[in-house]
Amino acid sequence: MKLLIGLSLLLNNILSDLELKELRMKYQYIQMKNEELKQNEPTNQQGQYQIDQVEQEKNDLQAEIIRKEVRIKELNSSLIERKKELSQLKAKLSHNHKVSDLKIADSNLKITELENEIARLKQKILEEEQAKMKLYQKVNELKQKLANHDYDRIKKLTDERKELVNKLICEENAKKILNQANKLLKTKNIVLKLQGEAIDALQDCLENSTNNQNENFLRNFFENMPGIKNNEFAEKFQNISEEYKNGLLLLENDYKSLSNIVKDEKDLKVSLIIENIFNLNSFNPDKYKIFQSDTNMKVEDINLLKKNLGDMKSELKQEEKELKNLED
Ligand SMILES: *[C@@H]1O[C@H](CO)[C@@H](O)[C@H](O)[C@H]1NC(C)=O
Ligand SMILES: *[C@@H]1O[C@H](CO)[C@@H](O)[C@H](O)[C@H]1NC(C)=O
Ligand SMILES: *[C@@H]1O[C@H](CO)[C@@H](O)[C@H](O)[C@H]1NC(C)=O
Repeated sequence: MKLLIGLSLLLNNILSDLELKELRMKYQYIQMKNEELKQNEPTNQQGQYQIDQVEQEKNDLQAEIIRKEVRIKELNSSLIERKKELSQLKAKLSHNHKVSDLKIADSNLKITELENEIARLKQKILEEEQAKMKLYQKVNELKQKLANHDYDRIKKLTDERKELVNKLICEENAKKILNQANKLLKTKNIVLKLQGEAIDALQDCLENSTNNQNENFLRNFFENMPGIKNNEFAEKFQNISEEYKNGLLLLENDYKSLSNIVKDEKDLKVSLIIENIFNLNSFNPDKYKIFQSDTNMKVEDINLLKKNLGDMKSELKQEEKELKNLED
């Protein structure tokens, strides 16, 4: 039981049909978008080159903005200093009434100079601020350009598509393996049922013939039964044997197919599990033969055949149970 729970946990990559359908639709959508974008886009390399250029331009502009901010700060410091000088000079003039006319004229000249300087600094700061705003705008435009660039979108979509394709392939293959495993179990079920019928028919042959007939029957059977048709039991056995032989061929074929798929997909977790459930490495068709050797069949041998059949039926039940656990 513990083992089975472990197996189910291992098989977490199996999707439901609905999920698989959604995955396929998403894939188709991405595929379509991808093609659409590619048609409006130069080659990837050219696209990347353009992007790099825009990126470089944006970085240069951002550095320029920082330089402007430093410059504005410097201008502002000068402005503050000049303003301070001016107000100190004006205060000195208004408090001191005994200054000479010459000094007053000199101070007035100085005040005019400071006022001009202040106006010039204010104008300069305004210009720098405006230039800075223009740079900001330009940077935003470039950012938008980068965000919209088809190259990036194509790359993202392509990666997403690749991932989806891988996932889809894994899912499809896991489903293929499980389908084949179920097919094998169905065939095995039919084959074992036929074997049961064949054993019963053989038992009838052995029990309802005289010893002499019995020997003849088996010899004839192996020599392709020319004279067997007048024996009802033998004919029935022959008919069932024919069916059984065909069933056995189908079963061998199913084992081979399952082994091949599992080998091809050995990276999938489900492959390893299926290989273990079905003992794919040690499949032996001889196990299914009713006649192991020759004509020395005795009634007692029937019991051995029945026991062998019982063992194989238990094995089948176990395999069915484990596969069902895997799929739930
Ligand atoms: C100049 O500096 C003063 C004081 O630090 C500040 O309040 C003002 O915003 C600054 N002006 C500019 C244009 O940076
Ligand atoms: C074969 O013979 C046994 C008795 O020996 C009998 O019970 C059985 O029904 C016979 N089988 C058939 C198919 O007639
Ligand atoms: C065996 O098969 C043949 C051909 O299908 C059929 O005619 C015959 O009745 C069958 N015999 C028995 C005993 O089932």
